[in-house]
Amino acid sequence: MAEKPDILVLNGPNLNMLGVREPTIYGRDTLADIEAMCQERGEAIGLGVDFRQSNFEGELVTIIQQARDSHDGIILNAGAYTHTSVALRDALSVAELPAIELHLSNTHRREEFRHHSYLSGVVDGIIAGFGARGYVLALEAMAGLVGADE
Ligand code: DQA
Repeated sequence: MAEKPDILVLNGPNLNMLGVREPTIYGRDTLADIEAMCQERGEAIGLGVDFRQSNFEGELVTIIQQARDSHDGIILNAGAYTHTSVALRDALSVAELPAIELHLSNTHRREEFRHHSYLSGVVDGIIAGFGARGYVLALEAMAGLVGADE
């Protein structure tokens, strides 16, 4: 492969509060800690990692739309918008890129309203319940989707 695939790792609302936010559910790693893990793993497996966060649904939509022309894959932890946002689902369809839905917690073991995801039907795969390590697992799965491990 000529160039290193560039992967957008996009985080939605309240994920900027990791570390202090319900640590029994989400762990003690901050989003900066998780970004550092992703950069290190991305470097090791030949992926560029563009790590972003926004609390705004429309901004997340715009970032995903733009990724269509600038990135090779999307790993998305959409936070609560997972369970509410048709707009994010449509943006993922527009992007036409390999995509992974990611959650720190196992959303199916939690409240009923977290069991439904608008995103699951338009992504290649889902990783949930492995805490911060899920980000690394998602990057490894993405390497397979974009052919970086061939
Ligand atoms: C989350 C799960 C969502 O239900 C919740 O709203 C979040 C985080 C997770 O990573 O486990 O904000 O996406």
